Order: sequence, then structure tokens, then C-alpha cells
Amino acid sequence: MTQTVEKKHLYLAGEKKEASSYKQLRSPHTGEVIADVAVGTRADMKKAIDHADIAAKEMAKMPAHRRAAILQEVSRLLAERKEEAARILALEAAKPITVARGEIARTVETYQFAADEARRLHGETIPLDASAMGENRVAYTVREPLGVVGAITPFNFPFNLVAHKLGPAFAAGNVVVLKPADQTPLSSYFIADLFEEAGLPAGALQVIPGPGSEVGDELTIDPRVKLVTFTGSPEVGTLIRQKAGLKRVVLELGSNSGLIIDEGYDIDRIVKRTVTGAFTFMGQVCISLQRIYVHRSLYDAFVEKFVVETNNLRIGDPLDESTDISALISQRDVDRIAEWVDEAHKLGARVLTGGTEGSIVKPTVIVDVPPHAKVSCQETFAPVVVISPYDELDEAIDAVNDSRFGLQAGFYTNDIERAFYASDRLEVGGVMINDFPTFRVDQMPYGGVKESGMGREGIKYATEEMTEMKLICFNRNR
Ligand code: SIN
Repeated sequence: MTQTVEKKHLYLAGEKKEASSYKQLRSPHTGEVIADVAVGTRADMKKAIDHADIAAKEMAKMPAHRRAAILQEVSRLLAERKEEAARILALEAAKPITVARGEIARTVETYQFAADEARRLHGETIPLDASAMGENRVAYTVREPLGVVGAITPFNFPFNLVAHKLGPAFAAGNVVVLKPADQTPLSSYFIADLFEEAGLPAGALQVIPGPGSEVGDELTIDPRVKLVTFTGSPEVGTLIRQKAGLKRVVLELGSNSGLIIDEGYDIDRIVKRTVTGAFTFMGQVCISLQRIYVHRSLYDAFVEKFVVETNNLRIGDPLDESTDISALISQRDVDRIAEWVDEAHKLGARVLTGGTEGSIVKPTVIVDVPPHAKVSCQETFAPVVVISPYDELDEAIDAVNDSRFGLQAGFYTNDIERAFYASDRLEVGGVMINDFPTFRVDQMPYGGVKESGMGREGIKYATEEMTEMKLICFNRNR
């Protein structure tokens, strides 16, 4: 007997609308069908933008306290239904349930930060009389909403990275058309329902899943969309940048994050944390710890302890409370990683632990890896970590910087001068002293240099990106 699964329609202008076709969504862990999801078309996206354009006028008039109240209510509703939300994440992304709960707790806070930001978004007064020509004039700026924001979101944090786009957009009085990741659309439907319940006007949030080449493309090229915010690969980010014309783009594009462990550091304090940084959610995190540079005096001991700790990770069902590692998001990614590890091996690397098994990539630790091997110089987005020794700090900093990416880096050291020195020299968007590069809380500025992207997330910073600054200037010399 075939079991019927829930059908997820287009979420258009506050209504669930039948799509012309549907695609089966499968659990990465079991392979079973968990929903039938609408496949939006270019025409559907055009319709969504028509509605958004109308809703933008209403949303722009909404006072800050109302926008804050809606965001706060979504935060409250999500906290109330947190276990249900975490289970959706475990089901559609194979995110281990304990990690999924962590993401939901962060998302609750992210919407709370957005509510706070709605209340405090402000302009400033400009001292025009600092110029003789400005005497007897008063000026101030206000922050106005842009209008329609297009959001294209990834599979890896389908609640919290969506919140990093919806939260600031609504805090600033914009409307959003959201194209969720193909692999994890259920979380977006869940949150859209919460926004509806919280009183967001119909049309202020629309969810249109579908192929990037159609719905993503239309969202990028339509001139009524004033900003596209995207998290994903540099290849797609570059395409968006090329097609977006004069509209704003915010791009968060991942990395192969590096960590340096300085001479004299107590490695016992950090082995567990670095293993978490490398393998949490199977490394499918833009700031996942991928490259570790350890001072030669600590190298052998660190590698040994790291491998022991890695082998303690438990592999299994994402819904099992004791699981640390579950299925990778797709078989294609499992095969890609197997090839990359094989390439490293052929280039002389030693795989100390790891391997693939069905949909699982076991936490993999590799040493003696040449810097041009893909597991080192590309973003693996998988549970693979490369550990290398160094002699001089400059050598380690150069190695971290020898990357097309530059999102975050970490440096464990006992020496404050070396901490300042490394902070100055590391070419990244964020330097974590005495922590791994995987550290993030949701109010901090977050974004990268080089091919890691442009613009910053973190609620305050993203809210500013999503506003237009207007200057108002009074001439008192009448
Ligand atoms: C990301 O993968 O870009 C997000 C990482 C995080 O929010 O912890």
C-alpha cells in the first residue's frame, strides 16, 4: 500500500496555491519520501513578486513597534513548538536531534534580536556646520525599507539562516520572497505559518521553492526586487552578482576555515572542542573547521588525541538522542568526498580515520596533505579535517591565508602580542582568539572576504544592509 505524504503547495500572497508539478522530498537518512513539494516556475515567481510589490507598500507603513511585536511573537511561537521544529530539521536535513535543538534555540534568539533591532533602527543627525557652507542648516538621516527582498537560502541551517534573512528584512519594514533550499523546504513552510499566526500581512512573506535556474533566476533579475540575499556556493553567488544588475546583493559563500594552535598551548583543553568544530552537523557548516595548523612541538600529541576523540563520535539515526553523525545531505556529496579523499591519498596524504558507508561519511582525519589537494584548498562541506604541523607563526598564518576563501579563522595562544599580530595578518571576516573558527552567535557581524562573500549578516548589520539611508536637510537661512 502506498502511503500518502503531505503536499506542500506554493505559499503565495498568504495562500497555499496548487503548483503545476511536485517533487518528492526524501529523508537523507532513510531515503523515505517525507513530503511532496511544489516545484515553482518562473511564472509563479513573477506572480509572487507582483504580490510582494503590493504588500511592500503596506509593510513600509507599519510602525516599528508592530514589526517588533510580530517578530517577537514568532520567536515565542517557535519556542513553544521547538521540539516539533527540531524534528522537522532532523527529518529533512538529517541534522542530529541534539544539534537540531541547538539550531532552534538559536533561531528563537535570532528573531528576538530582530525584534530588538526593529525598535532601535535609527538614523543620525549630521553636523552640517562643520563646513562653512553648512551653517544654519540642520540635517538628519532616516533608514527607509528597500521594499521587496529576495532570499535564497541553504539546506544546512534551514531555520536559523532563514531567520537571518527574514528577521532583518521585517525589522526594517521590507517584504520577502523566499526560495528555500530544495533539500530543506519544510522548515520554511513551518516558519511561514508562524509568521501568518503572528499577524504578518498576507504577501509580506511568500515561499516559492523550485529550481534556481528558474525561480532563483527570476528573483535575481526582476528589477522590483531591491536586494537579493543569498547563502550558498561561490559559483551560484558569482552568477547572482553577475545577473543582479544594480540591485544590492549580500552573499555568504562558505569557506575552508583554518585554526592555528600556538606553541605552549594546553591542547587537552581544546581537543574536544576542535573535534566539535570539525564534525558538528557532519561539517556542513560554512565555518566548519577544515584545516588545523599545530605547532610542531604539539603536533604528534594533538593528532593522537584528536583521532581518539573523533572515534568516540556516534554514527546513527538523526532522531536518536545519542547520534553525533548521520547521513550527508546527498549521495552525490558522499561520492564527491570519497573522490576528494582518494585524490589526497594519491598525493601522499595519510587517512588516519574515516571512510564512507552508504549515505554516511565517517569523521575523517587526514595528515600529510599537500595544500593543493581538494580536501585542503576547496570547501569540503563534509566531516573531513586536515591537520598539519608548522614551525613559525608566519608560516601558519600564510597557510590559513593561502585560500580562495576568508570567512573566519581561529587562533589558540597564551601570548597576547601574538594574538594581536595574527588578528592583523589573517585575511578573514572574523578572527576568533582562543576559540575555533566555528564560533558564532547571531548578533555578531558575520561574513567573509575573498570568495567567502560580500556584505555582513548578524541582525543589526543585515538590517542596515536592507535599508536605504535618506538624508533630510533643513535650510534655516530663509
Ligand atoms: C553557515 O553555515 O554559514 C552558518 C554557520 C552558523 O550560523 O553557525
